[in-house]
Amino acid sequence: MMGPESYEHPRHEPRETGLNPKEAREFLEDFYSETGSSESGRIQYVMNEISRTGTYRHTLPELTWGARAAWRNSARCIGRLYWNSLHVRDRRHVFSTADVADECAEHLRTAWKSGKIRPTITIFAPDGPQGNSVRIVNDQLIRYAGHRNTDGSVTGDGRNVELTDLAKKMGWSTRYPSQFDILPLIIEDDNGNVHLYALPDDAVKEVPLTHPEKNGFDRLGLRWHAIPAISNMILEIGGIKYSAAPFNGWYMQTEIGARNLVDEDRYNVLPRVAEVLGIDTADERSLWRDRALVEINRAVLHSFDRTGTSITDHHTESRRFLQHVAKESRAGRSCPVDWSWIVPPLSASLTGVYHRYYDEPDAGRRPAFLARIK
Ligand code: ARG
Repeated sequence: MMGPESYEHPRHEPRETGLNPKEAREFLEDFYSETGSSESGRIQYVMNEISRTGTYRHTLPELTWGARAAWRNSARCIGRLYWNSLHVRDRRHVFSTADVADECAEHLRTAWKSGKIRPTITIFAPDGPQGNSVRIVNDQLIRYAGHRNTDGSVTGDGRNVELTDLAKKMGWSTRYPSQFDILPLIIEDDNGNVHLYALPDDAVKEVPLTHPEKNGFDRLGLRWHAIPAISNMILEIGGIKYSAAPFNGWYMQTEIGARNLVDEDRYNVLPRVAEVLGIDTADERSLWRDRALVEINRAVLHSFDRTGTSITDHHTESRRFLQHVAKESRAGRSCPVDWSWIVPPLSASLTGVYHRYYDEPDAGRRPAFLARIK
C-alpha cells in the first residue's frame, strides 16, 4: 500500500456488546458458495454458539479463506493477484504479550524464506465479549526510529517520531542514534498496558543500497528492511475482530525509492542523491529531482536483486493488477479499487493502471482489513 498516512497512538474503542449474527451468517454463506465445501449444518451451529456465548470460533478453512478474502477486498493494494496463496499462521491460542512478540519474530523468519519472501499473516486471539485482546502498537513489525534533535530536526524516519518517543519513555535507548535504528515492538495487553520487546537481530533482514553504476551511491549509507509487515490493522471476518493480525507481502520499489526515502518529512534524500550522482540542483527546470528519483529507484531494485531479495517494480505490478481485475470480473466479482493508492508515485502515466476507472471501494465489504479507530 502506498499513500498519505499518519501515525497516532491507538486507544481502546468502547467495548462492543457482542456480535451481530447477520455478519457471521453472511460470511459463512460466502465461504460455502465460493469454496464449494459442504455446509452440513454449520451455519445453524454457529447461530446457536453466538446466542449461547456471544461469539463463535472460526474453523481453520474459514479463517484461512477469510484472511485471503480480506486481502482481495483491500482497495489500496496493487499486489492482489496472489490473494489466494496467502500463508495463514493460526496463533489464536497465543495471548501473552511476550508470546505475541516471539511469534512476530517467527513470522518474519518464516516469511523471509532465504529472500524468496512469502506473503504471510499471523492471526492472534480475537477480541471477544469479554473485551479486547492484545494489539500491536507499531504500525509495522519493522520500523526505523525517528530521533528528535534539539534543533527540531529528526535523525531517522520522521514518520516514526511518536512511536520512538513512546519507546524511549518506556526505557528503550540507543547508544548512538543513527538513521536506521530498529524500534522495539510495543504490545498492548488486554488491560491496556503496554510492553516493550526488542526484535531479535536474526528476524530483521535489511538490504544496503548500492547503485548499478555509480560507486559513490554507497557513501550515502542508505538501506531498507526487506519485509513490509503491517501490524496495526484489524482483520474482520464474519463479525469477529482480530485486532492483532500482522501480515506481509514483498515490496514494490517505489514504496522505498519514491516515498520512504524521498518524502520531505521522512528521509528526504533527493538532494544528497543528486550530489553523489553529480546532478546540478540549481535549476528546478533541469528536472534534477525527477532524474535523481529514477536513480534511487534503480538502486533499490538493483540492491534487492543483488542480495536475492524479492521485490517487484511498478510496470510489472501494474500489468499483474490489471490481470487480477480481469480475473475477478470473469469470476463475476467486482474489484474495489482506490485509484489514488493503486497508481504508482513514479511515472504514473507509463502504467496501465493510471489510464482507467474502477469499481468504487465499498466501505461495507467484508472480510476486510480495517484501520484502527484512534
Ligand atoms: N508502503 C509501506 C512501506 O513502505 C508498506 C505497505 C505494504 N506494502 C507491500 N508491498 N505489501 O513500508
